[in-house]
Amino acid sequence: MNIVIMEKNDWNFWCTLFFDTGIYLLFTPQDILSIIETWSFSGTAAEKLNKKVGLHMKQITLGASTRKVPSVIVGCMRLGELSTADMTHYIHTAMEQGANFFDHADIYGAGKCEEVFGTACKADSSLKREDMIIQSKCGIRQGLYDLSKEHILRSVDGILQRLQMEYLDILLLHRPDALMEPEEVAEAFDLLQQSGKVRAFGVSNEKPMQMELLKKYVKQPLLVNQLQFSIPVSNMVANGLEVNMETPGAVDYDGSVLDYCRLHDITIQAWSPFQMPAWRGVFLGSEDYAELNGKIKVLAEKYQVSDTAIAASWILRHPANMQIIAGTSNEKRLQEIIAAGDIALTREEWYGLYLAAGHPLP
Ligand SMILES: NC(=O)c1ccc[n+]([C@@H]2O[C@H](COP(=O)([O-])OP(=O)(O)OC[C@H]3O[C@@H](n4cnc5c(N)ncnc54)[C@H](OP(=O)(O)O)[C@@H]3O)[C@@H](O)[C@H]2O)c1
Repeated sequence: MNIVIMEKNDWNFWCTLFFDTGIYLLFTPQDILSIIETWSFSGTAAEKLNKKVGLHMKQITLGASTRKVPSVIVGCMRLGELSTADMTHYIHTAMEQGANFFDHADIYGAGKCEEVFGTACKADSSLKREDMIIQSKCGIRQGLYDLSKEHILRSVDGILQRLQMEYLDILLLHRPDALMEPEEVAEAFDLLQQSGKVRAFGVSNEKPMQMELLKKYVKQPLLVNQLQFSIPVSNMVANGLEVNMETPGAVDYDGSVLDYCRLHDITIQAWSPFQMPAWRGVFLGSEDYAELNGKIKVLAEKYQVSDTAIAASWILRHPANMQIIAGTSNEKRLQEIIAAGDIALTREEWYGLYLAAGHPLP
C-alpha cells in the first residue's frame, strides 16, 4: 500500500491511499488523523501530518484586543540551557504547529533564556520576527521587586538587546511591587509605546484591585494576567465554588481574579500547568495524586491522547478561554499539549478531574 500526500496549499491537503489491488481511496485531513491513530503509524508520520495541517492549535482572542493568538504559549523559562542549534530546532518545531507565541522574562536563567533565543533567531533567517509573538516580563530583581519607571525602561532595553529584536509584542509586569507608583508605570508604558519598543501590555500574579489601581493611570489596556493554574493548583476555581463556607478552598487568596479577568476581557495565561503546589514537581505520574492520575489515564484512553494532553485540556475547557504556558523542552510533549485544543471534556469529566485532585464540592 502507498500513501500519497497531495497538497493544495499550506493549510489544506488531501491524501490518497493506493492499494496493491489498484483500488484507491481519498481522505480528508481529519480522516487521515483518525486512521493514523487507529493504525498506530509511527509517531514521526503522525507528527509530520499534524504539522502539515496544523489542526490542533486552538486560537483565542487576546484580552480586549482583536488579535487571535494560539491557546498554547511556549514558555521559555527552562530553555536557557539549550544550544543555539537545539533552540532553533525547538522554535521551528513549535512554529510549524502554530505555536508562535513565546513567553520570556528578563530573569529566566538570569537573561540566558532570552539570549539563546535571540541568538537562535538571528542565526536562522527563515525565522521571521513578524511571524512570532514575543512576550517578556520585568520587575523582579534580586531580593526585591521594582516597577519604577527607570527600572522598567532599563529592563526593556536589556530584553531587546538579549533577544536582538527591535520590539516586544507584549510586556508584562512580572509581580506586584509594594512600592509601585502607578504614575511611573504609566509614564514608562507611554514611552515604550511611543518609541515602538513595546506594542501591548499586561501583568502577572496580580489581584483585581492592583489592576484597578494601574488602570486608573495607565492608558493602554491590560490584555493579560499570568497566574499559576493547574488541576491541583486551582484555588481561583475553588473559592468561587466554596462560597461562604469555612473550608480551605473558600479562602479568597486572589480577590476573585478569575471572575475579574472574565469581566474585563483580560486573558489569563496559566503558568506551571503541570506542577503540584509548592514546587513539588509534576503531578502527572506522582503518587501524591494517584486518584487524579487514574482518572486522567481513563480519559487519555477514551480520547486517544496522552495524559499530558488531558491535563492541558482541563485548563482549556474552562470558559475563561485561558492560554496555557507550556514549560516543556520536549518536542513530543509540546505536540501533545497542543493536541489538547481538540478535546472538549464533558462537564462530568471536568468536575471528575477536579474532585480527583482532592478539591471538595459543597
Ligand atoms: N509569571 C510567573 O510568575 C511565572 C512563573 C513560572 C513560570 N512562568 C512561565 O510559565 C512557563 C511554564 O512553567 P513551568 O515550566 O513551571 O510549567 P510546566 O509546563 O508545568 O512544567 C514543565 C516542566 O515539567 C516537566 N515535565 C515532566 N513531565 C511532564 C509532563 N508529563 N507534561 C509536561 N511537563 C512535564 C518538563 O520536562 P520536559 O522538558 O522534559 O518536558 C518541564 O521541566 C514558564 O516557561 C514561564 O514562561 C511564569
